Amino acid sequence: MKRIAFHDREKEIKEIQAILDAEPSLITFVYGPINSGKTTMISHLIEELPEEYAPFYVNLRGRFITDYEDFLNVLFEIDEGGRVDNVAEYAKSILKDLGAVSGIPIPINLFEQIFEKKDKSKDMFRYIERFFVEISKKRTPILIIDELQVIGDLKIDGLLMYKLFNFFIRLTKELHLCHVFAVSSDSLFIEQVYSEAMLEGRCRYLLVDDFDEETTTAFLDDHGFTGDEKVAAWNCCGGKPICLVELVNAKDDRKGKAEEMLKIRKGQIEEIVYSLEARDKEMFDAVMGVLSEFTRNAAVGYRYLSDEIKFLVGKNIIFADSVNKELRPQSRTNLLAIREMIEEGD
Ligand SMILES: Nc1ncnc2c1ncn2[C@@H]1O[C@H](COP(=O)(O)OP(=O)(O)O)[C@@H](O)[C@H]1O
Ligand SMILES: [Mg+2]
Repeated sequence: MKRIAFHDREKEIKEIQAILDAEPSLITFVYGPINSGKTTMISHLIEELPEEYAPFYVNLRGRFITDYEDFLNVLFEIDEGGRVDNVAEYAKSILKDLGAVSGIPIPINLFEQIFEKKDKSKDMFRYIERFFVEISKKRTPILIIDELQVIGDLKIDGLLMYKLFNFFIRLTKELHLCHVFAVSSDSLFIEQVYSEAMLEGRCRYLLVDDFDEETTTAFLDDHGFTGDEKVAAWNCCGGKPICLVELVNAKDDRKGKAEEMLKIRKGQIEEIVYSLEARDKEMFDAVMGVLSEFTRNAAVGYRYLSDEIKFLVGKNIIFADSVNKELRPQSRTNLLAIREMIEEGD
């Protein structure tokens, strides 16, 4: 299958470049609705980074992490190349041939040492800090953790997340040693981060949203869509990159395919909402109350995440933008599906 070229993201990439140009001082949370293109943008950015940077990318997606053992295995890329005792020398040798690393490189013997310790987090952070100090003599390290919410509730001697946040603050605000990016699609997690006192004034937020209409049209033009196909694509899928890519790959009957996507999503949402009616009528009414707000508006403000909003967010129907205190459907497809469902229910 043909690989679809990376499209646009000029504005977001400019913002990130400005962050990278300055001394690291804040943690950057990259957030947005699901499948809006966060991971794709970060991967593209890593590929295009000038030599002066050294990116370390860790993706927690789909990783089953229940203890330190799991976490260390994901965070580090174990180097079986032989015994090394000096972190500084090891970091220097790594710099010579730093390809696409997934995780923070560590010699196997040092990894095993951390493993044996009782307080693993202390030793783990100490190693990473020393490693980055050495790297930073030649290049600016960038640590990127994708799908950070995967370990959001993980308790190992207290919440692991707090220890990580503290460490991230040390790397950025205190030592100015390393850029830190944390990526998540999970609105409930970002809401927690946003209201977390320890992070106040120590982080910034960067929204990576679905394409707007103009960007979507340009993308579809690049892939030879006809006028009719473009209208159908925008009307059914909006600017959700993953859906647009599917339409590009469809080749024939793109209009039919776009309409089918909307139909399928509507069916799924109906299933989720109406099965709730049988189980919990009160919750169902509250959920319908939230959804019916979208019959006229594409986005509505909120003060806090009530149980009914949490339900809809948890089912990936609604996206809560904690920074702008705004609720909206996860995509234009979801918006239209909600509207059709409400209209038919009336
Ligand atoms: N800028 C882009 N240009 C082309 N395709 C994109 C772009 N952004 C996202 N996509 C497509 O959408 C899919 C989902 O994007 P992804 O980055 O995984 O979303 P997220 O990480 O926000 O959940 C990707 O696999 C890719 O096919
Ligand atoms: Mg992603």
